[in-house]
Amino acid sequence: MIFYPLNTLIRAGIKDILIIVAPERAGDYLNLLGSGKEFGVKISYEIQDKPAGLPEAFIIGEHFIGSENVAMILGDNIFEDDFSQDIKDFSGGAKIFAKRVHDPERFGVVKFDENMKAELIIEKPKQKISDHAITGLYLYDKRVIEVAKKIKPSLRGELEIVDLHNWFLKSSELAVVEVKGDWIDCGTFESLLRAQILAKEKLQHQLVI
Ligand code: G1P
Repeated sequence: MIFYPLNTLIRAGIKDILIIVAPERAGDYLNLLGSGKEFGVKISYEIQDKPAGLPEAFIIGEHFIGSENVAMILGDNIFEDDFSQDIKDFSGGAKIFAKRVHDPERFGVVKFDENMKAELIIEKPKQKISDHAITGLYLYDKRVIEVAKKIKPSLRGELEIVDLHNWFLKSSELAVVEVKGDWIDCGTFESLLRAQILAKEKLQHQLVI
C-alpha cells in the first residue's frame, strides 16, 4: 500500500520524505523502505506515539520542515493523477485536493459557492453539505506548524486536519483543486477492493519505484 502514496510524491519530484509511523509498525517500514536511496530519495522516520490526529504530523515534523513549504500525503490514499505541476506552482498558503464521491460522510468535505470558491469545510458532516471529499494530499507553507500547535482536539479527542484548512480558508489563502483521475482512500474493504482493481487496470505501469 505505502508504495502508491510514496510514488505520488516521488513522481511529483519530492526528494526529501519523512514517514511518520506508529511505534509498533516502525520496524516494518524501515525494513521495507530503508534510506530511500534505492528510489532516488532520502527517507527519514519519526514515531507518532498515539493516534492524536493528522495535524500532529506538522508538530512532529517541525525540524524536518524547517522554513520550507511542505506536502503531506496519507499512507492509505491512492491517486491516479500526477501532481508535479501543482507542487511546482505552490508558493504559499495552503492547497488541498477535492474529489466528488458517493459517500461524503466518510470524509472531510468542502462546499463551493457559485464561483467554485471554497466556502465551508467540515469533517465527516452528519448532514450532507456537498459531495466533494477532501483527499489525503495537502500542501502548506511553514505556518502550518504554528497553526497545528494552536488548534484544540475535537470531540473524538484528535486534532483535525480540517481545522488547518479552515485556518487558511479564513485568511483567504486556501486553494482547492479538483482531482481529475481516480482517488481511493483505502479505509474500507469495499474501497480496498476498488484499489486492487485500479492498481491492476491503471496503475501498474505507473510505479516509478
Ligand atoms: C482523513 C481526514 C479527512 C480526509 C480523509 C482522506 O480522514 O480526516 O478530512 O477526507 O482522511 O482520506 P480519516 O481517513 O482519518 O477518517
